[in-house]
This record gives sequence, C-alpha cells and structure tokens, in this order.
Amino acid sequence: MLYPEGVLIDGMTGAVTPETGRYSKRLSGLAGIFQDSSAFERAIFDEADPLVYEVIDYRKPDSDLFFGTTTMQPGKVGVEYYMTRGHFHERRDRGEAYYTQSGVGLLLLESRAGETRSVAMCPGVCAFIPPDWAHRSINTGREKLVFAWFCATDAGHDYGQILQRGMRKLVVEQNGEVAITDNPNFRT
Ligand code: F6R
Ligand code: ZN
Repeated sequence: MLYPEGVLIDGMTGAVTPETGRYSKRLSGLAGIFQDSSAFERAIFDEADPLVYEVIDYRKPDSDLFFGTTTMQPGKVGVEYYMTRGHFHERRDRGEAYYTQSGVGLLLLESRAGETRSVAMCPGVCAFIPPDWAHRSINTGREKLVFAWFCATDAGHDYGQILQRGMRKLVVEQNGEVAITDNPNFRT
C-alpha cells in the first residue's frame, strides 16, 4: 500500500527530501556528446574532470509516477554549453514535464520523425515533453540550472540513438550570444 507524502524540493540546490536515489555525471562520463573532442579532453585535464550534472529522485516501488530534480553546472566544452546526454523514452507513449526552478537554459527536443524544437528554460516555465520526443537540457547561463521533472516509472530511457548519431541541432556560444546551429556531424 502506498501512502501520500509531501516531498520538499529546493529550487536553488536541487535537494529532494526525502530522496530515494541519485547519480552524478562528470565530464569524463559524457564522452562522445560534445563536438570538439580536443576541448573535451583538455577540460577533463585542466578542470580535474568537472561535475556537469546531478540527478536526484523520489521513487516508490510499485508507483506509476516518479519525480526528482536535475541540477546542471554552468560551463562549456569548446563553444558548446554543458548538456545532458539526451534520450528518447523506451516507451513511445510516455512523455514528461520539466519545471525550471532556477537558472536559465534551453530544452532541445527532436521528434522520432526528425522535427526539432526548443523550449526556453527559466524559473516558472514548465516544459511539456510529448511522448516520443527526444529531450536534452542545456545550461546556457552562468549559474546552476535546476529543474524538477515528473515522469511515468515505466517510461524507460533509450540513450543509444542520440549517443550514436547526435541531435540535429547544437547549442553554442556565438559572438557572446546563445545560438542554435545545425550539427554538421549529425548522421541519419
Ligand atoms: C527522465 C529525464 C531526466 C533526465 C536527467 C538527465 O526521463 O528526462 O530525469 O534523465 O535530466 O538527463 P539524461 O538522462 O539525458 O542524462
Ligand atoms: Zn526523460
């Protein structure tokens, strides 16, 4: 039997209380997602394998729903801002919601058919991620980007496609501004 519970989400730190699990991604755990491989190697060495993001969840066995936070550090690899791996859900009928609590960023989305969209992430914006759209978040600001996410427990994660072929768009700094550009190395 599951019982109701209030879970405290700290929108500045991403802390979830009580939490049931967490993991973090350092730069070395994100090999292959950034375009500039020499900037990637250099950043790991010069910055002592920096933390890129941390995910904390609240998940109850046998529940249909779980939620948590992702806290992304600011930073870049070459001209590309720090980003998450990005994924489709294994179940093609499962979407998600991302509610940004602090910081600024972009949510980059790509449908199975190859359409691309982006949603600005800033405090108060709740992004609707429809089923079967790949999603990747990018911290384009100078502060931490903290967002809460809410998802079906059976959604599952499919990282393979995005890892192998990348996404069609990149989010880069261009002349001091945030720009969305075509990925020259995208493979269909
Ligand atoms: C869950 C979800 C988020 C991400 C997290 C890290 O479906 O979308 O919790 O898992 O923001 O991103 P990935 O998993 O792409 O490394
Ligand atoms: Zn997801």
